[in-house]
Amino acid sequence: MDQNRRSLLRDSLVMGVAVGAASIPLIGETLQKPSNAGEKEEKEPEVTATEDLMREHGVIRRALLVYIETVPKLRQNASSVDAAALRQTAQLFRTFGEDYHERMLEEQHIFPVIQKQGGDLKHYAEVLTDQHNRGREITDYVLAVTNSAKISTAHAEPLAKVLEGFVLMYQNHAAREDTIVFPAWKKNFSNKQLDEISDQFEEIEHKMFGKDGFEDAEKKISNIESSLGLNDLAQFTPPRPPKP
Ligand SMILES: [Fe+2]
Ligand SMILES: [Fe+2]
Repeated sequence: MDQNRRSLLRDSLVMGVAVGAASIPLIGETLQKPSNAGEKEEKEPEVTATEDLMREHGVIRRALLVYIETVPKLRQNASSVDAAALRQTAQLFRTFGEDYHERMLEEQHIFPVIQKQGGDLKHYAEVLTDQHNRGREITDYVLAVTNSAKISTAHAEPLAKVLEGFVLMYQNHAAREDTIVFPAWKKNFSNKQLDEISDQFEEIEHKMFGKDGFEDAEKKISNIESSLGLNDLAQFTPPRPPKP
């Protein structure tokens, strides 16, 4: 890159970016991705592979919110807990979270790649896989204890504890995947390859769920939220803090 173009890039960086001379070439190079003359410009995929994985985490996180909202109710009055809604949440976690997102995407496509990168990433792949397996045991348990209309008082406290542990694990799990694992995985591929992988992911999704896997999962969690009175987002805005 010639000096003029480099300075132009530097000047065009918007405010808030600390401009250190050493950091400029990298940014410049990213902006200057090879555009081979005569070749068609690389098309931006509609939903990138990592965006796909992260919005799936969005559905997973909403299931976790249903679980954590249920915990105090289990402790106060287990018979008032909507066992069917809890069961539907566990079923969604099983089909969309465990059988699809984890087993078909992360364990088949993401973890084998980062495992080869060694070091911390290899360790992450191992721990994350262990957590998927523990998650499945817990989902089995949630499905078992929500099998009748009401949750028995004998199951109330053990279930509350199990849900708390599950939520804490998956909050950490998905946050590390979003910020460490997916970005490290993505670096192994060109934009064109990522585009192809995103098509592959979509094909897997279609095979498992039909045309609208994500949209259907989002609708399901949305319906569960409505049935529990958790659908209005504004209810989660906290009051103003006290004056210091
Ligand atoms: Fe995972
Ligand atoms: Fe994940």
